[in-house]
Amino acid sequence: MVYIANLAEHKDQQVTLKGWIYNFRSSKNLYFLEVRDGSGICQCVVAKDSVSEEAWDAAETLRQESSLEITGTVVEDERSIGGYELQVSDLDVIQIAKDYPITLKEHGVDFLMENRHLWLRSRRQWAAMRVRNEIIYAIHTFFQERGFIQMDAPIFTGNAAEGTTNLFETEYFDEQAYLTQSGQLYGEALAMAHGLIYTFGPTFRAEKSKTRRHLTEFWMIEPEMAFYDLEMNMELAEDFIRFVVKRVLDRRPDELDILQRDTSILKKTVSEDFPRISYGEAVETLKSEEMADMLDQMVEDRRAEEATLREERREIKKERGQAKKWRKAQIDQRIKDIAARIDQIEEDLRNIPDWRASALNFKWGEDFGGSDETLLTMQYDTPILVHRYPADIKAFYMKRDPEDEKLALAVDMLAPEGYGEIIGGSEREADLDTLKKRLAEHDLSEEVFSWYLDLRKYGTVPHSGFGLGLERTVAWLCGLDHVRETIPFPRMMGRLTP
Ligand code: 4AD
Ligand code: MG
Repeated sequence: MVYIANLAEHKDQQVTLKGWIYNFRSSKNLYFLEVRDGSGICQCVVAKDSVSEEAWDAAETLRQESSLEITGTVVEDERSIGGYELQVSDLDVIQIAKDYPITLKEHGVDFLMENRHLWLRSRRQWAAMRVRNEIIYAIHTFFQERGFIQMDAPIFTGNAAEGTTNLFETEYFDEQAYLTQSGQLYGEALAMAHGLIYTFGPTFRAEKSKTRRHLTEFWMIEPEMAFYDLEMNMELAEDFIRFVVKRVLDRRPDELDILQRDTSILKKTVSEDFPRISYGEAVETLKSEEMADMLDQMVEDRRAEEATLREERREIKKERGQAKKWRKAQIDQRIKDIAARIDQIEEDLRNIPDWRASALNFKWGEDFGGSDETLLTMQYDTPILVHRYPADIKAFYMKRDPEDEKLALAVDMLAPEGYGEIIGGSEREADLDTLKKRLAEHDLSEEVFSWYLDLRKYGTVPHSGFGLGLERTVAWLCGLDHVRETIPFPRMMGRLTP
C-alpha cells in the first residue's frame, strides 16, 4: 500500500491512496480534495475531463470525512502541503460520511472534548499525537541504549507512594486496593535486581483541582539507578531531556510546524546547560528586587507588544477591502492570530499582580505554585533544576541532606515558557532505621511497607531516580496550553468519556 508520507518515492508514478476527505473545494470543472490517510494529507485534483463520468459523479457526492480509494499520478508541487499532489484518474467511494460534527470552523473546547474520538482526526491533534509517539520512542531509545531494562510496575497496589491525599481507592475482592500513583517503590526493588531500570506506565491521582497541568490518569517514566547519588541523578535527567528534545526537533519538524511551535527556544534546550539552583536560592529569587523589576519590565513589554499588534490589525483591515482572494484569506488568518495573542497578553496582564504578590509573600517551607514556577523559569530558555527542597513537603522515601537535615535530596525539573514541573526525583533513603522513622513520621504502617523495608535489609545501597510526566512533556514540546490535548483520551475531574 502507498501512504502519503512516502509519496516522494512514487514521483510521476500512478498510485492508489486509501483515506478520508479532510477538506474540499470545487470550481466548475475541478475538485480539489484534501485527502488524509493517517500518514499525512495530500491534495488530490479531480479534473472533469480526466476521469470517467462515474468517478466525477462520485466526487460530487463526497463530504468531509467520507472514506475512499483514489488513484492518480504523483506530481511534485511546491505549493501543495507535503510537496506533492495527486492528479486523479479514478476514485472509489467507500462510504459517504454523515454530517460531520467537527467542521473546519472554530468550536468550543467542551464540544471538542465531547467529540474527542473524532477531534483526534484534525490536523493539530494529529500532529500532537505524533509528537507524543516520537517522545515515547525517544525515551525508550535513550534508556535502552544506556543499558536500562524496562520493567512494569503493578497498577493495583496495596500502599500509597506519593502521599495519601490523592489516592484512587478500589475494591480488590475482600481487600482495599489503590490505583498506583507511581511505580517508583517497585522500581527500587527492580533496581536492586537489575541495577539500571525504568518503568513506563499509567499512574493515577485523584486531583480535585482543574488546572492545565493536571490529569487524573497520566503516564510516567521512572528510571531508578543503583549506586547513583543526587548529582548523578540530575546529570542523567538533563542528558535525558536534551536527548528527547533533540529527537523531536530532528524527526518531527513538520508536526511542530503544523502546531506553529516556535522551536528557537527548544533548540537552546539541546545546546545549553540547564541552570541548577537550590530551593533556598529559588525562594530568594522569587522575593528579590530583580524579580519585581522583571515583572515591571514584563508589563511594559506586553503593553508595547499589544499596541504594535493593534496597529498591525488596523493596517491589514484597511488593506482587506481591495485585497485579492488569497491575500484576504491570509489577512483573516493573521487577524485571528493577533486576536489570540492579544487575549493571551491581556490574561497575563491580569495575572501579573497576583503572581507578584504570591512571589513576594512566599515563605520558606512552602511548595511552589504554578505561577512561582513560571516566574522562576522566566529568565531562562532551558529547563532548570531546583534541588534540596524542605523535607516536610516531600515524600517519606527521600534521603535527607547530610549538610542540613531540614532538606531532602530532591530535585524537580521545571520546563521553560510556563510549563512548570516536568520531572520530580530524589536520592532515596537507604538506611533501614532512618526509613522506619520516616514511615512513622508520615503515619504510614511498617507492615504495609515491609517488602519495601526488605530492600534496606538485604544489601542496601545508595540509589536515586526520578519520574517524568509524559503529558506535561508533550504539552511543552508541542507548545499546547493544556494537557487535555496531549493524550488520546484525557481523564480529568469531570471527564470520563469518551
Ligand atoms: O513529582 P512526582 O509526584 O514524583 C513521583 O511520583 C516520584 N515517585 C517520581 C520518582 O522519583 N520516581 O511526579 C513526577 C512527575 C511530575 O514532575 C509531573 O511531570 C508528573 O509526574 N505529574 C503529573 N502529570 C499530569 N497530571 C498530574 N496530576 C501529575 N502529577 C504528577
Ligand atoms: Mg513533584
